[in-house]
Amino acid sequence: MNQQLFFTTTAKGVGPVLADEMRALGLHNVKEETGGVGFTGTLEDAYKANLWLRTANRVLMPVLNFDCKSEDELYGGVRQIDWRTYLTSGMTFAIDANVRDSNLKHSKYAALKAKDAVVDQLREKLGTRPNVNPENPDLRINIHIVKNLCTVSLDTSGESLHKRGYRVAQVAAPLKETLAAAIVEYTDWDMRSLLIDPMCGSGTIVIETALKAANIAPGLLRRDKFGFQRWLDFNKGAWDSLAKEAQEKRKDKLETRIFGYDISSKTIEAAQLNTRAAFVSDLITFKKQDIEALSPPPGHGVIILNPPYGERLGQKRELEPLYKTIGDVFKRKCKGYTGYIFTGNLDLAKHIGLKASRRIILYNGPIESRLLEFELY
Ligand SMILES: C[S@@+](CC[C@H](N)C(=O)[O-])C[C@H]1O[C@@H](n2cnc3c(N)ncnc32)[C@H](O)[C@@H]1O
Repeated sequence: MNQQLFFTTTAKGVGPVLADEMRALGLHNVKEETGGVGFTGTLEDAYKANLWLRTANRVLMPVLNFDCKSEDELYGGVRQIDWRTYLTSGMTFAIDANVRDSNLKHSKYAALKAKDAVVDQLREKLGTRPNVNPENPDLRINIHIVKNLCTVSLDTSGESLHKRGYRVAQVAAPLKETLAAAIVEYTDWDMRSLLIDPMCGSGTIVIETALKAANIAPGLLRRDKFGFQRWLDFNKGAWDSLAKEAQEKRKDKLETRIFGYDISSKTIEAAQLNTRAAFVSDLITFKKQDIEALSPPPGHGVIILNPPYGERLGQKRELEPLYKTIGDVFKRKCKGYTGYIFTGNLDLAKHIGLKASRRIILYNGPIESRLLEFELY
């Protein structure tokens, strides 16, 4: 099979752990870049990346780079690709575009121009044209224009990889699954010692922890097809054997124990439903509990929490005592553990009253956030 370049996208700050994951998966020429991590490999490697990577959002396959200083250059560039290789008139497609530091300023407009180029070419060559379906296309095309250089990629993932398929119950302000996985990767959890999320919300952190501990490929949970499964050259045999191999790698017995607590019983019910949908309910113990009552058993372990951080100013003030309580509980009851707090509000974090031993900058969507580490010895 041909070796080619791929690019996995992720949130700002996640690149280093994504690169580690990719090396551990045996991918070659792993290279961190702005917005993601590149690798070279076969299409089968891209299937594997989609199946196993916990912290990637998408795996893109670049097909062409060209200078793009105007809409005409964009239109002409996209038309250089023979789209008959990837699309028939009966298929649907969608184009995502992002534009930065370039003469072309508007992503939506760039997507529209690129769509015209695809449609016009296929209408000329085939006599008919494929339809656009933004929600559920057979082929997702990605246009990325930075400093007047355009990269056209095919999106092997289709729907973003953070949509694992287990979020059946919603709560307010859940973490994105890929970000929760990145938080777990950044901790020093050894997959054996105990792990607790005392403010677990919908359970994203504990579910991602359980998936990792049990060596469950996140892609096995996916409900929708991956992008590549709808491509004309989809190699079903290769995919089936990767999926079968992944099924066999699931561990039944864990050395670790995982706990999720939350003050709201409704939230705990939602977390339990999600956990069932991820097939890890036997691996996580949930309980309704206020953080004030947290009392982990003596020994070592990791505590990760993502407290509320309030959108409005008044809300923030109201949350100050909660952050102080977290600091007090860490100090009084969690000796021997390493504590992690993920928050988008540094002012609130000051109320924890403990000195962080590590501070990692991660982006929660547009919000610059911190993962703070506290050694509680
Ligand atoms: C930002 S949410 C956590 C979201 C979670 N990481 C997820 O992905 O769904 C914060 C959670 O803290 C819980 N919480 C607030 N105050 C609490 C307290 N005193 N003790 C325990 N949990 C609390 C809330 O009910 C909420 O579910």
